[in-house]
Amino acid sequence: MEPVIRPIDETELEAFARAASTGFGSRFDAEQFERQKAGIEVRRTLATFDGDVIVGTAEAMATTMSVPGGADLGTNAVKGIAVLPTHRRRGILTRLMERQLSDMAERGEPLAILWATEAPIYGRFGYGMATYRLAVEIDKADTALAVEPADKDLRIRLVEDFVHRRFISNGLYEDKRLVVPGMMRRKEAFWIRRRDDLMGDDAFFVVVEDGAGRLRAYATYRIDRSWGASGPEGHLSVADAISLDSDAERALWQFLLNIDLVTKVSAWHRPVDDPLPYLLHNPRQLRRTLGEGLWLRIIDLPAALSARSYMTEIDVTLNVTDSLLPANSGTWHLQGGPSGATCTPTAEEADLELDTSTLASAFLGHPSLGSPAAAGLVVEHRAGALRQATAAFCWSPAPWAVTWF
Ligand SMILES: CC(C)(COP(=O)(O)OP(=O)(O)OC[C@H]1O[C@@H](n2cnc3c(N)ncnc32)[C@H](O)[C@@H]1OP(=O)(O)O)[C@@H](O)C(=O)NCCC(=O)NCCS
Repeated sequence: MEPVIRPIDETELEAFARAASTGFGSRFDAEQFERQKAGIEVRRTLATFDGDVIVGTAEAMATTMSVPGGADLGTNAVKGIAVLPTHRRRGILTRLMERQLSDMAERGEPLAILWATEAPIYGRFGYGMATYRLAVEIDKADTALAVEPADKDLRIRLVEDFVHRRFISNGLYEDKRLVVPGMMRRKEAFWIRRRDDLMGDDAFFVVVEDGAGRLRAYATYRIDRSWGASGPEGHLSVADAISLDSDAERALWQFLLNIDLVTKVSAWHRPVDDPLPYLLHNPRQLRRTLGEGLWLRIIDLPAALSARSYMTEIDVTLNVTDSLLPANSGTWHLQGGPSGATCTPTAEEADLELDTSTLASAFLGHPSLGSPAAAGLVVEHRAGALRQATAAFCWSPAPWAVTWF
């Protein structure tokens, strides 16, 4: 008998969470479940049932995400994708993904995003690698800043109260989202899940404010204290660090790099165009590892492409293949520039030909189309079209998917 796929109801929440835990190889944690169950958007769950047993799970959180130019697009933050170890490799994920994509298309939300446990899983479902993540590690010796903050009135203040922390971080994060693409809105469901990681009791929360008391930056960090033969060897790890301007960025890092009893500072989640190397007098103190970040799926192609801005003028026709959401397949006329764009179906010949996952990779502005094209994933039918589209799709600042969900 074919397994049934459907959203769960409230009475099935625990069975759903148990199946997801088992799929991810961890034991069900009842306390954690009690704390986090309100963050599960039941209407956006999908479970695969084998008889009355849940053997596959998928979730999505309704949110919005900034795109190049500052628009905020309806986005499904997809998570909790798991299949029981007893039921793998018989197409359960494939059917869950197909159903989830068609549900999202029906709801009319233009984008879906996810963090992948393993890179080979999602390309086949039209997701593309849309951001990169820079992990940095700094040995604290010789970490003087190249340039001190110009504003000598900037002050650093530690904040303890969780509600106050959350209020501050939401405010600064929302301001940052207006200029940086790829930043997801942190709504209630996000905080229910991630509060402990970002602002748990063991985390410190620091703000930078100017002489008038205006908040300009914040960071959340933890210190793992340890001691070696010659003294303290603490490790400070930064979970979240957002600055609204370069002076505040300097002041924030000056503080983070000068905390006592710490010999190593690391941050897992910096943007690919991170200013940190330029902040340091000796940039070689900074070890950087580039990893893939967020995977993005374009659900409604004309809505998505016409909602973002383009770095330079663009006037191209794109032939896009999308085997799972056929409404996106076909040839599109994309015309626009820095102040907006239109994207309409056309009967004209295509200038460029590409798959929906390649388009998704370029959607947030870094990498642009040049890198996938160099890998043979974009076919150019009109000379010059690729160069024009690569320049136009590119965006600065680079997308920064700083929110893990
Ligand atoms: C990843 C997972 C959900 C796949 O479920 P599944 O039901 O076995 O997947 P399917 O049978 O539908 O596989 C579809 C295709 O993807 C491939 N695939 C699935 N998981 C893969 C993986 N981890 N790495 C590479 N390929 C994978 C399959 O080989 C299959 O390819 P084929 O059609 O060419 O044969 C399941 O293995 C799982 O629960 N893993 C642990 C939890 C996890 O990592 N979840 C993902 C969270 S982002």
